Amino acid sequence: MEIKYKTIEEVGSFEGKRILLRLDVNVPVKDGRIIEDFRLKKSFTTINLLREKKAKIIIIGHLESKETKSLEVVYRYLKNYFAVTFVPSPLVVDDTVKHAVEDLEEGEIILLENLRQNPGEMANSVDFAKELASLADVYVNEGFSVSHRNHASIVGVPMYLPSYSGILFQEEVVKLSQCFTPAKPFTFILGGAKFDTKLPLVKKFLTIADHVYIGGALANDCYKQKGLNVGVSLLSTTAFDLKDIIEDSKTVLPSDVVVKNGEEISVKLPSEVSDQDKILDAGPKSVEDLRKLVNESKFVLWNGPLGNYENGFKQPTIELAKMIAESGAQAVLGGGDTLAVISELQIEDKFYFVSSAGGAMLDFLANETLPGIEALNKAPKA
Ligand code: 3PG
Repeated sequence: MEIKYKTIEEVGSFEGKRILLRLDVNVPVKDGRIIEDFRLKKSFTTINLLREKKAKIIIIGHLESKETKSLEVVYRYLKNYFAVTFVPSPLVVDDTVKHAVEDLEEGEIILLENLRQNPGEMANSVDFAKELASLADVYVNEGFSVSHRNHASIVGVPMYLPSYSGILFQEEVVKLSQCFTPAKPFTFILGGAKFDTKLPLVKKFLTIADHVYIGGALANDCYKQKGLNVGVSLLSTTAFDLKDIIEDSKTVLPSDVVVKNGEEISVKLPSEVSDQDKILDAGPKSVEDLRKLVNESKFVLWNGPLGNYENGFKQPTIELAKMIAESGAQAVLGGGDTLAVISELQIEDKFYFVSSAGGAMLDFLANETLPGIEALNKAPKA
């Protein structure tokens, strides 16, 4: 991938310039509070640098939460760290917002309302992109984790403004790119569900990695392809042809599984699963197989849990997180559930790089670029 855009670090000063700063503020909210702030905290370096460079900062972002459609919860969080004003206009851009922008002084910050309250955001409407762009002199994308979306604030706005990447955005691009030319031996561990989104990634990394460990519900599809009974286990919505994958000598599947049948939970070989069994986790032998692979590796890439983490099937995933942290391998991790595990264990700083992205990480690893990166590349020069 060719990087044609500049980062904000390469610009001497933004003195007096109005900056439209796209953050990914899409974080889990419970009982009116942000319960996991990893990606928000990581964007503070960019906010601070823009303030140092005397910019007038207009933060835009989206939130998908069952509890609320407003970014007020993000405002309440941010004001613990920065002097910030919230302008909660539901269409995101209106006269109130325009006046608030006119009044901005150097180093000041305003936060606009949830972009997805305006239908133009997800529709990537030209009008909405132009309205957003009209608020500022410069666009900065610090939302790598939403840069797989063809939305107005990601791909539309940079058509109309000189554009730069934020610091975290750039770190994501550089560190995730290292997965394409890793130190060897290299083990790629992929868990979670849905081959629908992960198949291209598996195919690609079978050509790069020494071992591709397929865990989580993805393994169920592979057992099925092998002709094994998977009982009532979760499968991908589409039945893919996984023949090449299961026959590849680099592919490793869990050698034992935890199954639930009624109220009974037991460990079985994949070949012993019966009609009423539901596979919910990797078994203890699988954990030891993984330990061996991880300890032999110089580079590990991990995304997605080994079991049904939300429902308490988490011990093997916890073991995996700990063994990677202790292995000394250069490790790159990512994905919402993976992040939840390592934040619970408070070991975020034990890895070479923890991505703030979920879907965007998978898309970047599969395609080596994202719509948001391409949009920065094509943006008008300052
Ligand atoms: C994420 O949380 O992965 C990003 O913010 C993208 O969110 P979305 O899946 O709602 O587009």
